[in-house]
Amino acid sequence: MNHEQSENLGGGADIAFSYAPGKIILAGEHAVVYGSPAIAATLDRGVRIAVQLRKSDQKGPVLKASGLGFVGHVRPDPDGEGPEVLRKALTRLVELYGDRVCELELMVDSAIPAGRGLGSSAALSVAMIRGIHRFFGEYVSSEVVAELALALEKVFHGNPSGIDHTVISQGGLIWYKKESTDACVCKISPKRVMHFAVGLTGPHAGTKQAVQALRSRASRHEGLYQHIFAGISQIAAEMRLAITEGKLAAVGELMNLNQGYLNALAVSTPELEKLCTMARDKGALGAKLTGAGGGGAVIALVDDDPKPIVDAFAKAGYLSFATKCETE
Ligand code: PMV
Repeated sequence: MNHEQSENLGGGADIAFSYAPGKIILAGEHAVVYGSPAIAATLDRGVRIAVQLRKSDQKGPVLKASGLGFVGHVRPDPDGEGPEVLRKALTRLVELYGDRVCELELMVDSAIPAGRGLGSSAALSVAMIRGIHRFFGEYVSSEVVAELALALEKVFHGNPSGIDHTVISQGGLIWYKKESTDACVCKISPKRVMHFAVGLTGPHAGTKQAVQALRSRASRHEGLYQHIFAGISQIAAEMRLAITEGKLAAVGELMNLNQGYLNALAVSTPELEKLCTMARDKGALGAKLTGAGGGGAVIALVDDDPKPIVDAFAKAGYLSFATKCETE
């Protein structure tokens, strides 16, 4: 089921289902926090949630997690079971929706590896919001989903640029630029289908930490960092054009350039570099890390079949899968 269906079906239900995809960033992570544009796309895997009335009489809402880097029950209890960040997210849900969500049980099944820069927390936020509204039979626009998801994302990431929950709530491929009070968001229509191989290293230490550490490095060399962010802005602008013109070799070259800047920003790791090199040696048009870095995932763009690179990652001991951006 796609999110349009889930958002438009009215009438309260005994059980409601929702879905939200993960995401990759093709250009501009980190720089986007400082106002540079970035390009992001949804993955063709995501988080599924079933919402129903809670069976037990313990104080809810209860989240039954599977695939969130944790398996078990989570309640908004400060000393309870489960990761603190998930307990805080449930507390935020109660603040946003009031006591009516305390009656709910949210069964979460995520196919997005957590802490890999693939948008697992933003997808969880969007899927929970869609599922709750659907359960109560309420229509909710994509804009309102995005607004509520940002409130939840702040629990996970502090002060995010907003790119993750925006691409995940809108779907497809977007150009995103944070403005002083809002964001400029435009859909991008690829002329050709873009196939990617995704390779996973271990989880990163956290987006919030990576963004804070970069801010501290940038404060010591402000002028130099401004040059890097300007370079990344140009990469995003040229990539947008190359995507709409179907010039995938150029998109790949721009991804490689962006990876060079991410290395200069010290958010890459030897393992991420190794996966980028492996993918390029196997014929990828370009490869880069995606998301906060310091661990997490590499995306490699290929001309058509991502399988040789997916297999090469797997053979070297890294979890891997294929994803694609469709033409519209
Ligand atoms: O949470 P991640 O790993 O998908 O990273 C999000 C992208 C950053 O630019 C690093 C942070 C942000 O808020 O945009």
